Amino acid sequence: MRVFVDIKKCYSLQEAHDSDGRVAQSESLGFIEDAVIVEDQGLIRWLGSRSEFEASRQALGVSSNTEIVSLSGTNILPAFTECHTHLVFAGDRSDEFEMRNQGVSYQEIAKRGGGILSTVNATRGASAEDLRALAQSRVAEFVKQGVTALEVKSGYGLSHEDEIKMLKVARSLKGPKVVTTYLGPHSVPAERSKSEYMQEIMNKTLPEVAKTRLADRADIFIEEGFFDPDDGRAYFQKAQELGLQITAHVEQLSDQGGAVLAAEFEALSVDHLVELGPEHIRQLGESKAPVCVLLPTADFYLKMAYPKARDLLDAGATVALATDFNPGSSPTQSLNFVGVLARLLMKMSLSEVVTAYTYGSAKALGLQADRGSLTVGKVCDFICFETEIENLFYQVGFHPVRSVYREGELLWNDKNKTV
Ligand code: NIG
Ligand code: FE
Repeated sequence: MRVFVDIKKCYSLQEAHDSDGRVAQSESLGFIEDAVIVEDQGLIRWLGSRSEFEASRQALGVSSNTEIVSLSGTNILPAFTECHTHLVFAGDRSDEFEMRNQGVSYQEIAKRGGGILSTVNATRGASAEDLRALAQSRVAEFVKQGVTALEVKSGYGLSHEDEIKMLKVARSLKGPKVVTTYLGPHSVPAERSKSEYMQEIMNKTLPEVAKTRLADRADIFIEEGFFDPDDGRAYFQKAQELGLQITAHVEQLSDQGGAVLAAEFEALSVDHLVELGPEHIRQLGESKAPVCVLLPTADFYLKMAYPKARDLLDAGATVALATDFNPGSSPTQSLNFVGVLARLLMKMSLSEVVTAYTYGSAKALGLQADRGSLTVGKVCDFICFETEIENLFYQVGFHPVRSVYREGELLWNDKNKTV
């Protein structure tokens, strides 16, 4: 048991928990001043103000031997969940960034055999050990920004063996809780036809990753030139039969009806949604599930429009934000930049951004019963920051996380300062 004290303001996100991720635009986040958290076996046992704590100290079983941890007058938030990344990859695509800036489109680069396929070549050529070292250093970069739950996709292998290699690397990553997602249908490999590759996915790789529990979820890229809604339907059916949760890359570059298709299969999340039409926005808002995962740094790098976050929120959808970190469409790991874009260009309020990166993103991974808010019974995962909350997701590049706790244990802190 541990008792955390000297918390200036504790933003518990209890309202987000109570409303299942929907917080009205005008609402600001509630907080407890001079708060205390009692942690037991990694979970939140009690949370309240100092005076309430003093009154219930004995009943909580806190004795003179209990470890007391001072958080030095910082403010705290539930730790962030990063729910959409492609962080296992080798090589980079800086050359394509230059080409895109000279006017060649993302789709045109893909048609010429670059894009996803160029990362596939580099990733196939790398050993599992090298991939692991690269991926682990990227995980560390997320952790220091306050991430204690992280999703990692495959999708740069595009063959049975290479996809399994990627998922094994993802499963071996240390630090945060890791959710793994099989994204075999990310692109068709250069050496095979789509139908040959789909057969391998459906008859071999998907069953194996489900059976061995290498993947928690199944994902597909439904887009012109990649996979169509019929592929999506067959894939979702099979994934569901095998007990895998579903998520999908949909309506990123064109409207294919992928989001509502995935919703039919009770997908946990539908991701991108830039080209989602008004009728589908209404349907997603009404269906309450799946979570709408918005990825504004990908839209920024691809010079696209931004998803209609305001319309989705007003329609009643639960929204999450994520980096989509990958070497092509979103070569950034910055949660801060994601949040700044969401506030600046997607009409999201600060409380909506914070909710989207905590409760919303936890729900996108199906983890909202355990994380996403500081609620009694959930994991004791939180971040300490020094500024007022209004300074978060404000200055590009300024993300003042001072320390990160996972299950009551210190996972990272800014070494230059004493906690
Ligand atoms: O989410 N859209 C498909 N997949 C990634 C891009 C991957 C890549 O360009 O390497 C995305 O944007
Ligand atoms: Fe993605």
